[in-house]
Amino acid sequence: MSVMIVLGTQWGDEGKGKIVDLLTEQADVVVRYQGGANAGHTVKINDQEFILHLIPTGILHSDKICVIGNGVVVDLDQFFKEIEELKVKGISVEKRLFVSKSAHLVMPYHKTVEKLNEKNKGDQKIGTTLRGIGPACVDKVGRTGIRMADLLNEEIFTARLDLNFRLKNTYLRELGQDQIDSLKEESRKILTYKDRIKPHLVDSSVFLNRKIKQKKDILFESAQGTLLDMDFGTYPYITTSHPTAGGACIGSGVGPTLIDEVLGVAKAYTTRVGDGPFPTELKDKTGELLRNSGNEFGATTGRPRRCGWLDLVILRYSVRVNGISKLAVTKLDVLDNIDPIKVCMSYRHKGKEIDEFPTDLDTLLNCEPVYQELPGWKKTTRGLTDYKDLPDNAKKYLDFIEEKTVVPIHLVSTGSKRDETIFV
Ligand code: GDP
Ligand code: IMO
Ligand code: MG
Repeated sequence: MSVMIVLGTQWGDEGKGKIVDLLTEQADVVVRYQGGANAGHTVKINDQEFILHLIPTGILHSDKICVIGNGVVVDLDQFFKEIEELKVKGISVEKRLFVSKSAHLVMPYHKTVEKLNEKNKGDQKIGTTLRGIGPACVDKVGRTGIRMADLLNEEIFTARLDLNFRLKNTYLRELGQDQIDSLKEESRKILTYKDRIKPHLVDSSVFLNRKIKQKKDILFESAQGTLLDMDFGTYPYITTSHPTAGGACIGSGVGPTLIDEVLGVAKAYTTRVGDGPFPTELKDKTGELLRNSGNEFGATTGRPRRCGWLDLVILRYSVRVNGISKLAVTKLDVLDNIDPIKVCMSYRHKGKEIDEFPTDLDTLLNCEPVYQELPGWKKTTRGLTDYKDLPDNAKKYLDFIEEKTVVPIHLVSTGSKRDETIFV
């Protein structure tokens, strides 16, 4: 496998968790490179369900090493909570979970600022996960962030904390003075994690490059999806990171010439959580059917996901901006009872047909999808493990995706469990 990036081609929740879990078998190290605890990656092993938010999915394999790269913003309350939850389920992270010293901290005040921002944006709110990701990244860019290494030095940490509260006074004015004081107190408590986090800290660039030199297999696990990328997503309805392939280099300190494969995970239809444009969204019975049969409810916030047809404009765009070399198509089984199945081939905008994904919000909001209908298969594909057993029309649906994206499909997921997968 060598060095592979697994990323989402749509708006997140494509089933990356399940795919990363499967591919971890062939990996030595699994790396998260962006985002934070806004992710929700579900893995089902027999009858046990795991939802990982911050810790790489690879941790479920007891012999694998996991790294949280410098590009991730880390909420230490969540980090240690997740470790405890894993421990209860019999999984130990000892000596195999590492965090970059350069990763920024998500502080309690980031979550407060985010809540206030979302409230004050009114109908222009983003519909974030409220995990403090955006404000932590704003501080990173604004050069007031607090990094893991700062936590090891109480003096530096205190000075950075004071600076942040001085600068955030205007933002926090809406809270009473009492609340600001208690927020500062709560934020100071992060310092108590100092000794517990120390054994996990590494330089992710040194660590990973050493592993690559030793010919170890590395799996980069993206969170979110291409359409939520800060530059390539549906701005401003995005997350504050780079879930795209380029983000793996920036977020870990591994150079682009060392990446061998980019595997794009695509749901057989499309979903989105939160606000923002979604050209193929179905607000009708078919949308509801997809939500119910696909159990499309957020793994982090529990919100119902918006559902719609597969959008090939988006898929081709994702292939281009990520340099995708292989595809994994997930949740094929959710389409089992739908006939016909529509696929968006291009958009119509002011009477003109466009086939490249528009980068400005106004055009995107006024695009109408141009569909092609494909016949459904009306047979169950749930749990199939052999390509030969797929109904002909399901094979044709997959062939159609390959043909239009010009990317080979490497695997097809037919259920949420590990073994409900077809390696093509
Ligand atoms: P991620 O964020 O990309 O890891 O995806 P999520 O875990 O948020 O959402 C994917 C959901 O679909 C989870 O509940 C998975 O258990 C489930 N899932 C994954 N693959 C399949 C599949 O092929 N079929 C069905 N029915 N469910 C799947
Ligand atoms: P995984 O890794 C789906 C969405 C939020 C919101 C926007 C910004 O499970 O695929 P944020 O809290 O990141 O500032 O919210 O991004 N979002 C996701 N949607 N899957 C995710 O992660 C997401 N992480 C964030 O709903 O619209
Ligand atoms: Mg998810």
